Amino acid sequence: MKTLALLVAFAAGAIAATPTYNKDIAPILYQNCAGCHRPGEVAPFSLLTYQDTAKRAALIASVTKARVMPPWKAEPGYGEFRDVRRLTDEQLALIQQWAANGTPEGNAADKPAPPKFTDGWQLGQPDRTLTIPAKFAVPADGPDVYRCFVIPLNLENAAYLTALEFRADNRRTVHHALVFADISGLARKKAAASPDGGYTCFGGPGVPAGLVGGWAPGITPRKPIAGYAATLPKNTDLVLQIHYHPSGTAAQDQSSVGLFFGDAPTKGRSLVLLGSQDIDIAPGDAHFVLRASQMLPADAELVGITPHAHYVCKDMKVNAILPDGSTRPLIWIKDWDFNWQGAYTYADPVKLPKGTRIELEYTYDNSDKNPRNPAHPPVRVTYGEQTTNEMGLAFLSFAFPTPADATAFQRALYAAR
Ligand code: HEC
Repeated sequence: MKTLALLVAFAAGAIAATPTYNKDIAPILYQNCAGCHRPGEVAPFSLLTYQDTAKRAALIASVTKARVMPPWKAEPGYGEFRDVRRLTDEQLALIQQWAANGTPEGNAADKPAPPKFTDGWQLGQPDRTLTIPAKFAVPADGPDVYRCFVIPLNLENAAYLTALEFRADNRRTVHHALVFADISGLARKKAAASPDGGYTCFGGPGVPAGLVGGWAPGITPRKPIAGYAATLPKNTDLVLQIHYHPSGTAAQDQSSVGLFFGDAPTKGRSLVLLGSQDIDIAPGDAHFVLRASQMLPADAELVGITPHAHYVCKDMKVNAILPDGSTRPLIWIKDWDFNWQGAYTYADPVKLPKGTRIELEYTYDNSDKNPRNPAHPPVRVTYGEQTTNEMGLAFLSFAFPTPADATAFQRALYAAR
């Protein structure tokens, strides 16, 4: 009996040999890091070779252990999402052991082929490509720059947008982008005075325009889904809101957006904005709670959620309270970071029956202890779209069998508000 136990222990020891770069670490990094950590991408250095990786082993071990990298803010167990960027406990342990054991390279034969990435448009050649009118200059340092560029579509007829791909020109300075469709003509007016076709904007475009797409590091553009399209009326102007982060050297950017058109939609989509403007946070208040809720007037399928706040927000929770009283968590972000905005798509649409109440609860820390607080010492923070203001909302994207169902849902929702 004793011999057997010893043998088993010995065998287990042999399996848990020191992990090597070629066999254990390269596959993890190729799959989870290389999308951003390769030349021309958003991350500040590449992680494609043994040399690149080994010299940063200690830092890699510590940022992965703290789950700072890969960046993914949604807490596991609160909503099941697609394209989750999260290492398994086993992968984390392998990285720790490899770093602690002198970063052995291992046997060259074990090394997987480096990943292949498509350059250019990920969804294929767009039907229409729009580029911001002129190169935009981003200074080497100083505060982040938020610019809204207005691009008239000059459509001859209404068009049906099935997919949209934003292509950042200079990925070292473009932090993220949101694309809005404006039919009010107000964005165009705001931009009229400036030669670059843009105006300064933070948070939103500052005009009543609908969100039609966006881009953040690591987000793969969504392929068209059969039956769905956003209708763009004839007079639509696109507003590209780009958040630039000075990268240490003066930079220029001229980003583009590719549009894919198709047939009129046969299925319905509805974007619901859940949130509150009831924000007034005293300086030093480390626990300000914002609540908002919305009753669903009909059965609906939730396909995605995009939480949004600014710098002093800490914790974001959105739950669905079903008519039977049970709670279904939709998302929980415990350590919100304005720099990692994410659009989260559910692995399977969440079916929510009529009478479900969606509840939002966001917590803000406006004290000195919050390292992300832009003000030192803290100042009073109120609702608004400036960097120094706060917001608290979630975009909820619902799917319906037909466009008429989506319209009826939207009407019932506003009637009940
Ligand atoms: C979605 C894009 C993205 C992915 C995926 C990603 N990173 Fe990063 N990484 C960044 C960016 C951007 C930075 C620069 C710092 C920042 O903006 O947060 C960074 C910074 C780092 C740093 C430097 C941190 C510091 O404190 O200086 C390390 C180390 C790192 N990443 C390792 C990894 C590893 C290991 C993985 C995969 C397990 C990974 N990253 C996945 C985008 C990414």
